[in-house]
Amino acid sequence: MFPLSAFIASSIYLAQVHAFTSSNYDNVAVYWGQNSYGAANPTGTAGFQQPISYYCQDDAIDAIPVAFVNTFFGTGGLPSMNLANTCNPTDNATFPGTGLANCSALASDIEYCQAQGKIVTISLGGAGGSVGFTDDTEAQTFAQTIWDLYLGGTSTTRPFGAAVLDGVDLDIENGGSTGYAAFVTEIRSLSSGASKPYYITAAPQCPFPDQNLGSVIDQVGFDAIYVQFYNNVCGLQNYNVVADWDFGTWDMWASQVSPNPDVKIYVGAPASSTAAGTGYQSISNLSTIATTMRKSFPSFGGVMLWDASQAYDNDRYDLGIKNALVAAGATGFTYPACTAPAYVSGSDYTGGSQVSYNGYMWQADYWTNATPSNSSSGDWSAISVCTGTSTATPTSTSSAASTSATSSTACSGIAAWSSSAVYTAGDEVSYNGNIYTANYWTESNIPSGTSGSWTEVSSCTTTTAARMMSRFFRF
Ligand SMILES: *[C@@H]1O[C@H](CO)[C@@H](O)[C@H](O)[C@H]1NC(C)=O
Ligand SMILES: *[C@@H]1O[C@H](CO)[C@@H](O)[C@H](O)[C@H]1NC(C)=O
Ligand SMILES: *[C@@H]1O[C@H](CO)[C@@H](O)[C@H](O)[C@H]1NC(C)=O
Ligand SMILES: *[C@@H]1O[C@H](CO)[C@@H](O)[C@H](O)[C@H]1NC(C)=O
Repeated sequence: MFPLSAFIASSIYLAQVHAFTSSNYDNVAVYWGQNSYGAANPTGTAGFQQPISYYCQDDAIDAIPVAFVNTFFGTGGLPSMNLANTCNPTDNATFPGTGLANCSALASDIEYCQAQGKIVTISLGGAGGSVGFTDDTEAQTFAQTIWDLYLGGTSTTRPFGAAVLDGVDLDIENGGSTGYAAFVTEIRSLSSGASKPYYITAAPQCPFPDQNLGSVIDQVGFDAIYVQFYNNVCGLQNYNVVADWDFGTWDMWASQVSPNPDVKIYVGAPASSTAAGTGYQSISNLSTIATTMRKSFPSFGGVMLWDASQAYDNDRYDLGIKNALVAAGATGFTYPACTAPAYVSGSDYTGGSQVSYNGYMWQADYWTNATPSNSSSGDWSAISVCTGTSTATPTSTSSAASTSATSSTACSGIAAWSSSAVYTAGDEVSYNGNIYTANYWTESNIPSGTSGSWTEVSSCTTTTAARMMSRFFRF
């Protein structure tokens, strides 16, 4: 007779077996649902989005956020969901009295993906989402709705029928932050003690902190953050511009601020040149960037791609990046040695100088005498964690005794910013005691403003005495 204890052990094992391992460094998360390829290539029907199971036939993809629940409170008080050509409220039947499509024909496709060891989560929001909460109570009620419709709860209006998804992804790009922390807390509470793990992820844009999700991810623990490194100055296209690339800021947030210190940070990337406005990189470029981040920051968890249809049409971009991540190692992190000289408080550093400080190696974005800090707007960018004490000789450019007047260039040597002038990338202006360079074509955007048009290069002095002291000016 089959021993009862063995039966229990094996059924527990079966219930918990999950090829997806959140703590790994080689995970590939790929959004599915929006048929991005079809949106960019309306006549290319052969490349249109296929059923979700199509993307689960090999080991390239580990996690699939299904995009999107794009309206929280629709007809009949239920959310609505649009999966483009696969299932939507216009072409497919909706549950009576609601705008929620009955996509239960997809249940077996989803369960197939899960049986292949992948996690399938429901993504809320999207760029055009009609989302948001008025208060925490509304958010908690909505958490119960999402639990009942997609996760471990029960309802007569489950869009994927009996399929039980593996968690929730928040891709909130408008509507503010109100209620999301309460929403996450309620999902965690509903899923505590469940027979399988549920994952909660967020997809903020790369500028730190994110407008909508910034305060949310500070308040409650997430399992992974899929940072969108595209359509922004901090995107992959500026990976080589140390002042722009801010993965280090996200890593510091993970270890110093996140309520879940084991949260994983993913490099989110467009899966083809037509998948985003900016940020697309060749597969070899993305592989280099991702494996460099993997070796530099312990919070790195893998790569997120937008989206499955684009990746498959683009020469299996998903498989390309998976192979690179696997080659770099699924587990284990070796802290690089602090090879840059130790930071010397009060010293002046020219742009490009590297120092070791507080467990990180940093590079000066431009001339600075500030202390490296985790602030994303600081003068230094963290380029890697590091361990040990550097024995390298300090390379600061002057002693702490030097005054800011002698270490600045003169504003008068740089044309003052004019609100009526047109500037193109690289143009320099002085404004309010600082020198700025234009990031791209711009007109009538104040250099110190939030338009993103300008980067502060250094401070400058308005006294004529400082004119000759220009040796610290970097350009
Ligand atoms: C939704 O409708 C489209 C268009 O008729 C169809 O191709 C698709 O299979 C339907 N989806 C589901 C899940 O029934
Ligand atoms: C949802 O669709 C399935 C067929 O795909 C059908 O069997 C089921 O009755 C529908 N549910 C409701 C509540 O309309
Ligand atoms: C930097 O650290 C401070 C203090 O711990 C914290 O409040 C802030 O959010 C941190 N910022 C980042 C980008 O980690
Ligand atoms: C790859 O990176 C190089 C050097 O950083 C850059 O010049 C090039 O534009 C990138 N190519 C693509 C296709 O991403």
